[in-house]
Amino acid sequence: MAKKTVLITGATGLLGRQVVRAFSYYAADSDEWIVKGTGFSRTATAAADGKPVQQIIKLDLADAGQVEALLDREKPRVVVHCAANRFPDKVDKDPEGTKALNVEASRRLARLCAQRGILLIYISTDYVFSGKPGEAPYEADAETGPTNLYGQTKLDGEKAVLGEFEAAGGKGGFGVVLRVPILYGSAERTDESAVNVLLESVRKAAEGGSKIKMDHWALRYPTNTEDVGRVCHDVAVHYLSALDAGKQAELPKMLQFSSEDKYTKYEICRLFAEILGLPIDGIEANTEGNDPNASVQRPYDCHLSTRALKEVGIDVSTQDFEGWWRRELRAFRK
Ligand SMILES: NC(=O)c1ccc[n+]([C@@H]2O[C@H](COP(=O)([O-])OP(=O)(O)OC[C@H]3O[C@@H](n4cnc5c(N)ncnc54)[C@H](OP(=O)(O)O)[C@@H]3O)[C@@H](O)[C@H]2O)c1
Repeated sequence: MAKKTVLITGATGLLGRQVVRAFSYYAADSDEWIVKGTGFSRTATAAADGKPVQQIIKLDLADAGQVEALLDREKPRVVVHCAANRFPDKVDKDPEGTKALNVEASRRLARLCAQRGILLIYISTDYVFSGKPGEAPYEADAETGPTNLYGQTKLDGEKAVLGEFEAAGGKGGFGVVLRVPILYGSAERTDESAVNVLLESVRKAAEGGSKIKMDHWALRYPTNTEDVGRVCHDVAVHYLSALDAGKQAELPKMLQFSSEDKYTKYEICRLFAEILGLPIDGIEANTEGNDPNASVQRPYDCHLSTRALKEVGIDVSTQDFEGWWRRELRAFRK
């Protein structure tokens, strides 16, 4: 079988590392994939699964010339676009930089991919939805309504990407959006993930001092980055085979993947404390929810339906959240 190149942007990030790992795993198995990843500031230290990643290329997505040259050199059949600014505090501090990366760089990348007949998988978020009580689970075609700038830029990125492929009129390329919720998994630092970082809250609370308030209102569906990596691989295989068979019209442009494990942040802290053998009484469950007068309303429940993925025959099973953490934290138990 002829080898195909997959290019993963954001391959030095929390998710991108696992997408590289998933394609590399199948490459070793079937010899089918040449796996290339791009990073920005962390290219020198990039690692997946503790091993150095040789195929990480430094790329500034803001530089159209660099992106075009890279696509022409590596000639990928698939691009998995993970790179984004997704830290809410960084987004709010740098709205213009965030729009430039999450929207304009995604638009340019999509245009270049469409011109070259490349399949582009754009990673998006459940934060494109408002998460108002009573609305979830959201189908892939449900009405969007982001409540913060991060969600808005990711939604604008989705529209920009699909718009470019639409404008190209199906000349061999294809753009598909894959929305995912809050992610956890193997991390270089706990603060890479909004889930992993709760370990620090639990440890800090156990040291004593003032009580930490932890949200016990908003519902989260923490999803493992390894599972998302596998789904990206499976989507790539399925979509390429359908495109090669001329079945483009059968392919949905909007997909969603999520675990069904439901937790509040307080419940995650309680689980971590129990696994680590630490007290939880330094953490107070905060059930206040949204202040109706606040200018920005936080999403209550953005649960994503995985129906569209299931309908195309992709495995949506996930690891068990509790089981994964029990294995991961075994060494740290008191
Ligand atoms: N993490 C979550 O809980 C979550 C939830 C839902 C959706 N998502 C989506 O999943 C995707 C991956 O998120 P993540 O958590 O893996 O993010 P991350 O850990 O913050 O990684 C971001 C990646 O983007 C790269 N990058 C930043 N600026 C760049 C630029 N100018 N040019 C090229 N690359 C640049 C970074 O490279 P360097 O680090 O080398 O600078 C890094 O590899 C994003 O699209 C995000 O919106 C994430």
